[in-house]
Amino acid sequence: MLPARVDIVEVGPRDGLQNEPGTIALADKLALIHALADAGLTRIEAGAFVNPKWVPQMADSEAVFAGIERTLGVRYSALTPNRKGFERAQAAGADEVAIFAAASEAFSEKNLNCSIAESLDRFAEVARAAREHAIPLRGYISCVLGCPYSGEVEPTLCLDIAQELLAMGCYEISLGDTIGVGTAAHTERLLEHLLPHIHADKLAVHMHDTYGQGLTNIYRALQMGIAVVDSSVAGLGGCPYAKGASGNVATEDVLYLLNGLGIEHGADLHKVMHAGARICERLNKSNNSRAAKALLSK
Ligand code: HMG
Ligand code: MG
Repeated sequence: MLPARVDIVEVGPRDGLQNEPGTIALADKLALIHALADAGLTRIEAGAFVNPKWVPQMADSEAVFAGIERTLGVRYSALTPNRKGFERAQAAGADEVAIFAAASEAFSEKNLNCSIAESLDRFAEVARAAREHAIPLRGYISCVLGCPYSGEVEPTLCLDIAQELLAMGCYEISLGDTIGVGTAAHTERLLEHLLPHIHADKLAVHMHDTYGQGLTNIYRALQMGIAVVDSSVAGLGGCPYAKGASGNVATEDVLYLLNGLGIEHGADLHKVMHAGARICERLNKSNNSRAAKALLSK
């Protein structure tokens, strides 16, 4: 059975922009975040407090958080890979922080410069600090349906990591198909493995759309009881440590699907579409949302 309501986690300002080659003006980032909030999106990942040498595009996350004109009821979150990242996020006023493990040793080394076990130790420190400051903590697991370096990924490893992240205090685990290789069959296999142990309301899906499988995977996840979906306006993005991976499934496309299914989500597709069109214009790139392209050409 499909859920009556789905929450969208809009990751465009972070996942969508982190891999952009050119400089993005702070004003453009802020205009995007404001337009997304105005469109009714209530969970917005606005930045990342990571090593700026590794991901220069997120280096201005302090300025981003300082510049946000907050909309009541919107949670503005940020990635925090370690204690230093947490301290920066807290000082900047992030409403929520996210730690991000990987279900692949090779990807963990590339993305976090450490093994999975070492990353979990660092995350435990972030989790302790988040608890002390009563800041909600979200957990990501990357490469749940495949790794760009080591290929197949075992669902048992995803389950172990998810349980560790939940035990640390994450209120939700976002399952990332970082390189967008999974199909509905992979999604089903993973969820069949996780759901006997973890309630669906503690899980979200984060599908990149490299092979055009994002929406299909999301639909399969919705059928299995998942009701939180990460997506990126205009399908922006890619991961710096996953060569060739394209952006997340486009928010506009997910909203179009949810509208068709009669599932409540609280966002305004047309406003999101205009936010996407504007940032694409500013970045001088084409829009990866099929729904936005179709609707904008009408
Ligand atoms: P490292 O270089 O191994 O860190 O980075 P280190 O502890 O050895 O420190 C080296 C330098 O970095 C030091 O500075 C630290 O102070 C500094 P120096 O003494 O050389 O001047 N440093 C920091 N500076 C600012 N903020 C920090 C920070 N930490 C250390 N937080 C680290 C280790 C984890 C920090 C690094 O590997 C990193 O930043 N990784 C993040 C990479 C990243 O952002 N990847 C993309 C996001 S994940 C993703 O996209 C997947 C996701 O979307 C889900 C999916 O799709 O599956 C979430
Ligand atoms: Mg991602």
